[in-house]
Amino acid sequence: MMDVLFALQTNFWPVFFAAAVFFFIWKSCSKEYERKFGRLPPGPAPAPVVGNLFKVYTKEPCKYYLELSKKHGSIFTFWLLNTPVVVISGYQALKETMIGMGNEFSGRANYPLIMKITNGYGVLVSSGERWKQLRRFTLLTFKNFGMGRHTIEDKVKEEASCLVQSFSTFRDSTFNPGNMIDKAVCNVICSIIFGKRFESDDPQLNLIVKAVEDYFKVLSSPLGQAYNIFPKIVGLLPGRLHDMLAKVEKAKDLFKLETEARIEALDPSSPPKDFIEAFLLQMDKEKHNPNTEFTFNNLLCTIWAMCSAGIETTSSTIRQSLLLMMKHPDIQARVQEEIDEVVGRNRCPSINDRQNMPYTDAVIHEVQRSMDLTPTAVPHKMLYDTEYRNYIIPKGTMVLPLLSSVLSDPELWKNPDNFDPENFLDEKGQFKRNDAFVVFGMGKRACIGEALARVELFIMFTSLLQQYTFRATQPPEEIDTTPAISSFSRQPCFYECYAVHRT
Ligand code: HEM
Repeated sequence: MMDVLFALQTNFWPVFFAAAVFFFIWKSCSKEYERKFGRLPPGPAPAPVVGNLFKVYTKEPCKYYLELSKKHGSIFTFWLLNTPVVVISGYQALKETMIGMGNEFSGRANYPLIMKITNGYGVLVSSGERWKQLRRFTLLTFKNFGMGRHTIEDKVKEEASCLVQSFSTFRDSTFNPGNMIDKAVCNVICSIIFGKRFESDDPQLNLIVKAVEDYFKVLSSPLGQAYNIFPKIVGLLPGRLHDMLAKVEKAKDLFKLETEARIEALDPSSPPKDFIEAFLLQMDKEKHNPNTEFTFNNLLCTIWAMCSAGIETTSSTIRQSLLLMMKHPDIQARVQEEIDEVVGRNRCPSINDRQNMPYTDAVIHEVQRSMDLTPTAVPHKMLYDTEYRNYIIPKGTMVLPLLSSVLSDPELWKNPDNFDPENFLDEKGQFKRNDAFVVFGMGKRACIGEALARVELFIMFTSLLQQYTFRATQPPEEIDTTPAISSFSRQPCFYECYAVHRT
């Protein structure tokens, strides 16, 4: 004991000095840390340099986030190299943040691959004032063109009957319906943007469809993920990435040509015939405003946003719905029975029929819920330093709304792990709404095309099942309905099918 006291006395000042220096460095580091990273929610321990990068990308990311939310609760942080990413999971936390604190959480994260294509222009990728103006304008213009009402319904019906017609050419042989569904959905968007549809063999239609298809393939592939982390290095690799970028550029060239063709003939005194004309008229109105967001770049990238966000999503859902009907022939037969009863065989189903078709409505909702198309929505970004549940999330932090956690929550669904239309039906067999149906996102950044997508899904799905019974090339029990790509967005696996004409 005396020895220890003696040692302390003689070494007091050097020990005190070292402790003071350590304390000072630790204090200023944690202040610097807090200034830079706020008071972030806890999460899995990051490895030096790489953070949790390998964990995120060796597993299916969304499954990893769901595991983490069980361990760390409804808000946690993981690290991609030295960058924090905050994940919000569960209905309550998502409601409090995405809706209750909508302003703070409404920024869009700068994904390098998306930024490479858009440079931050357009409604999907922008934040702040630019996004506000573009979103307001896009929603209003969609409304004026009859989004969710009759004008657009007629266009969807036209595409649905062309789609039914194109399936009839296969008669007794198997085929992959993917490309035909892509084209039908693309044509609906073209009729809004360009005021016209394209024939199915038109190279311009093929160009848009192919550009969007390749974009999603790359975005969801390991290559796209690697680009989003090391854009400079991966950008040097030749091959698939650059092929895709070239196709997207060609699609944007087409949008440019269509825009230029309208400038000459633009008549400000008559109402716009399509989205491009409406945007050009707004540009004209604001030509003396130095801060206007109605510019060519914003127009071209908003068109690209609608094509990229609107084609693959809706088409994948229709493809998955047919696959699920082949897997569950009993459900397919019940939907057909309801179609026969309410619509019959001789007219195209219309959106007004939906209220009399609770089972079909439930099936379509259940396809979307069980498919969980965009498990983490489109990544958000904090617009301000924000305090939430005693944590401080700094401005600029990427935030992932884990929609999957809501769509698979056993507290919110009768049977969350299986495809089961009962999830949307009450005891009387009537359609039952559920606020946990968050497939279109929540809050200020929720999907702009929801109304359109709902019309397309209902009319195309019912039109196809009205005329055909879908059968797979293998017995139902051998059909695997697990989506093929499960990272940024999910896509149904490749399949071939028979479309047997109903007699
Ligand atoms: C089944 C079909 C669809 C699904 C499941 C879907 C889902 C989503 C989701 C989850 C988001 C992101 C929400 C967020 O960031 O929190 C989104 C955004 C968006 N969607 Fe959709 N979508 C579909 C169809 C469409 C269609 C048909 C269009 C356009 C015509 C469209 C246009 C957009 C746009 C422009 C955004 C970005 C909105 C913004 O950033 O403010 N979507 N969608």
